[in-house]
Amino acid sequence: MNNLTWQNLKVTKQHRLMQKKQPSYVLWFTGLSGSGKSTLANALEQALFERGLHTYLLDGDNLRHGLNQDLGFSETDRTENMRRVGEVSKLFTDAGLIVLAAFISPFQSDRSFIKDLIGEENVIDVYLDTPLSVCEQRDTKGLYKQARAGKIKGFTGIDSPYEAPKSADIVFNTDIMSVNDCVSIILAYLGRRLLLP
Ligand code: PPS
Repeated sequence: MNNLTWQNLKVTKQHRLMQKKQPSYVLWFTGLSGSGKSTLANALEQALFERGLHTYLLDGDNLRHGLNQDLGFSETDRTENMRRVGEVSKLFTDAGLIVLAAFISPFQSDRSFIKDLIGEENVIDVYLDTPLSVCEQRDTKGLYKQARAGKIKGFTGIDSPYEAPKSADIVFNTDIMSVNDCVSIILAYLGRRLLLP
């Protein structure tokens, strides 16, 4: 980074948090395709929004339509996906928002990188531990079928690995839990950690 100088800005995250009177942090949803990340993140965002909180949902599929449209699903590209999304999440939390990030994020090293980047205390991991068989049975986008037929290569859970988190803050199996129950549990968790105003 030659010839670059970091500029210290006058209005900081702390100023924004005091003015907005809401905390700012990242809820990181990880899990297989079809595990329920987007559904749960959406429902939780609605619940937070109804409480008057300023939120933003970053969804893997959506970001791959814009910011990350040049990336595929090789290990290198997934890592670059995480780096960019991590940087965006960091900017948004600096801006004072509650960020909900829903990405397969299959590699432990990338998830650790995000925590180092944003600060461990500012990231809450939510692991959607829905069994592969259930995700595959749901197959809402028809992608598992294509992956099994060899039409999609490197599909997570089929011929690309998913490294399950060993110590997530919250773990759900959406096969046996309703979306509403999951939302209530997360809200209770946030309340206990004084992360709801
Ligand atoms: S990653 O692994 O975190 O970089 O993936 P992410 O950015 O979350 O994007 C996942 C969505 O991309 C679609 N898709 C695939 N997923 C996994 N593997 C392969 N090869 C693949 N190809 C396309 C799929 O719709 C994922 O969305 P979700 O919501 O997880 O089902």
